[in-house]
Formats: sequence, structure tokens, C-alpha cells
Amino acid sequence: MSKLRVGLLFGGRSGEHEVSISSAKAIATALNAEPNASKYEILPFYIQKDGRWLGGEEPQHLLGSSVALPESPSPDHNQIVSDPQNQILSPWQSPSQVAEVDVWLPILHGPNGEDGTIQGLLTLMQTPFVGSGVLGSALGMDKIAMKMAFDQAGLPQVKYQAITRAQVWSNPCVFPKLCDEIEAVIGYPAFVKPANLGSSVGIAKVRSRQELEAALDNAATYDRRLIVEAGVVAREVECAVLGNDQPQASVVGEITYDSDFYDYETKYTAGKADLLIPAPLPDAITHQIQDMALQAFAAVDAAGLARVDFFYVEATGEVLINEINTFPGFTATSMYPQLWAHSGIPFPELVDRLIQLALERYKGES
Ligand SMILES: Nc1ncnc2c1ncn2[C@@H]1O[C@H](COP(=O)(O)OP(=O)(O)OP(=O)(O)O)[C@@H](O)[C@H]1O
Ligand SMILES: [Mg+2]
Repeated sequence: MSKLRVGLLFGGRSGEHEVSISSAKAIATALNAEPNASKYEILPFYIQKDGRWLGGEEPQHLLGSSVALPESPSPDHNQIVSDPQNQILSPWQSPSQVAEVDVWLPILHGPNGEDGTIQGLLTLMQTPFVGSGVLGSALGMDKIAMKMAFDQAGLPQVKYQAITRAQVWSNPCVFPKLCDEIEAVIGYPAFVKPANLGSSVGIAKVRSRQELEAALDNAATYDRRLIVEAGVVAREVECAVLGNDQPQASVVGEITYDSDFYDYETKYTAGKADLLIPAPLPDAITHQIQDMALQAFAAVDAAGLARVDFFYVEATGEVLINEINTFPGFTATSMYPQLWAHSGIPFPELVDRLIQLALERYKGES
């Protein structure tokens, strides 16, 4: 039986480029181990920070090595990295090996990867791919659209207000009114966020008018769409979802840390945050979280996989949904695969299941 060729897409143009590489290395290791190795052959594609795709031996080598990738490839590097026909590829052109892929695994986080753009391209290629389609990915990326979908589904969440860059950078008479309104509706402490980033980039916790103004101005440099949320004092718990039309929820995990909130530094500095699996929660709360995770998955039309993050306000017993991630971090120590490992699905089997779910979904839709 010939092997299924799995196109591993990794790197990408988002701030989570390095996380994507770590996730891709872990997934490649899982595909290279038996029994996956007899079923699948990896065709890796590395998307450079400038958006150009690399196929062939170089990404294969990058996946296998522990060498860090060049920060941002020089123009010379792009020259070397051309198609066999010796053409320099534009960002929208793909290497010739793309035609050989049977199923795609887009291991990309954040904008240009987890937001529906790549999913649109893969849909046009008429090749199955792992994870959510255009709608689920786009809704899962934009925090405003996501919260609107959750509202419609009746999922409880913190109070929030959608804001545009144009409002923040409007004339000096309008901006104070906007801040007055935020103070009246949301109050302090509040979280100011760009709507479409990830990894806590551009997010600030604000406790005063001065901090609010600075945070809005800063967040507006990252995105046209911003969101301001009421800050809650809560435990942060996460649930993994796997499946298509009949998805399953994993055990619930908790993230603990000492910093003020789960900011970029806490997320990516070893030892600054701990994962607790399963989270020590009352059974009824665990079930409620699992149920809400499945509702959130359906609300945005997610497919294959997602990690759904919650705030558990212990003081009141409330569970509030924070967000859904349609391609969560997937390194060997990441929450998503760990939650499944604790739910009885080891990492290599999880990757196999995701590929099978991609094939199943494609068959059902074509
Ligand atoms: N309303 C809130 N109340 C309390 N803490 C919050 C609130 N919003 C965000 N936080 C803190 O900030 C962290 C990051 O916020 P959030 O999860 O919304 O963005 P993100 O992690 O950048 O998004 P993504 O998971 O897509 O990368 C949360 O994990 C939490 O620690
Ligand atoms: Mg988050």
C-alpha cells in the first residue's frame, strides 16, 4: 500500500513563527515513528517570515535539526531557495512539490495561518487539510467576531466593547468620549487587546485612565480592530476538543503562574507557568467546562481540533469562556496534546486521528 503524503506546513508570517516550528518538529517526530511511519510520508514546507514557501530538502533538514532557523532570510537566501526550475517564488506561488500532497497539516498559529487565509488556499487546492475551514478559523481568530458568535450561542463571557483603530486615532475631541464610555461600561481593571493577534502580544491590563489611553494607542498599532474587556479574578482552565460533527472533549487542564496575567513572557519563558492536568475542580464544574467547550466548537464551526480556554471565577462558581484556538500550540509539552494524553490518546495517535478526521471531512464535503 502506498503511503499517504502529508504536507506539513510550518513557520509562517505571524509572531508565533517559532512556536509553529517547535510544533512541526514534534508532529514530524510523531509521524516518523511506527505505526504512523508505515502509513504516512512527510512532505515539509517551510513558510518564511516574508511569506515565501520553501519545499524540498531544506525544510526536511530544518525539521530534523535542532539548529535555529535564520531570523529573517536575506534576499540571497531567497535566491538559493528557488523552485527546481530555478524560478524565484512570489509569496503566492508554491513549490512544485505541493502537487504531490495528499493531505495538508497546516501547523500555523496566529494571523496568516490560523485565521482562514491558508485554509482558503488549501480549499482552492481541493486537497483535504487538518483543522477548521475558512469560517471556523476566521471566527476563532478575531476576538470580536468570536465573542459575537459565543453571545449568539448563549455562552457566558466577560463584558466587552469592540473598538476600531479609527476611533482611537480620531480627533482629540472624540477620544476622551470613547474613554469615558469604556470607563462607564467596562470599568477597571480592564484588558485592552488587539482583536487579531495571539500569544498575548499587544495585550495590556489597565487600572487607570492614563493606562487605558496608552494601551489603546499601543493596541491600535497592531490591529485595526480592538477589544476592551472587564478584568476578572479567575483561575485559567482549558479543554481540548477533537472531532468533526461529533466532537469529544478532553479532561480539563489548568494553567498556574505567579505573574500579573498570562502574558507573553510567562507563556514562553520556561518555568514561569505550570500545567495542572487534570485541573483540581469539582466534577460539576469540569462537566460544565467540557460541555461549554463543545458548544464553543460548534458556535464557530470548528473542525478537527481546538483548545477552548475559560475563566473559572471560584468566588462565584461562574465559568466564563475566554477564547477558542483553532490551531493551538502542539509541541510535546503543549496543553492540547497533553490534555489528550491524559484522556487516553497519546501524541502519535492524536496526529493520526487528526489526519483521518481531515480525510473524513473532505469526503463528506466533496
Ligand atoms: N478579561 C480578562 N480578565 C482577566 N484576565 C484576562 C482577561 N483577558 C485576558 N486575560 C489574561 O490575559 C491572557 C491573554 O489573553 P487572551 O487569552 O485573550 O489572549 P491571547 O492568549 O493572546 O490569545 P491567543 O490564545 O489566541 O494567543 C489570558 O490568558 C489571561 O491571563
Ligand atoms: Mg489565550
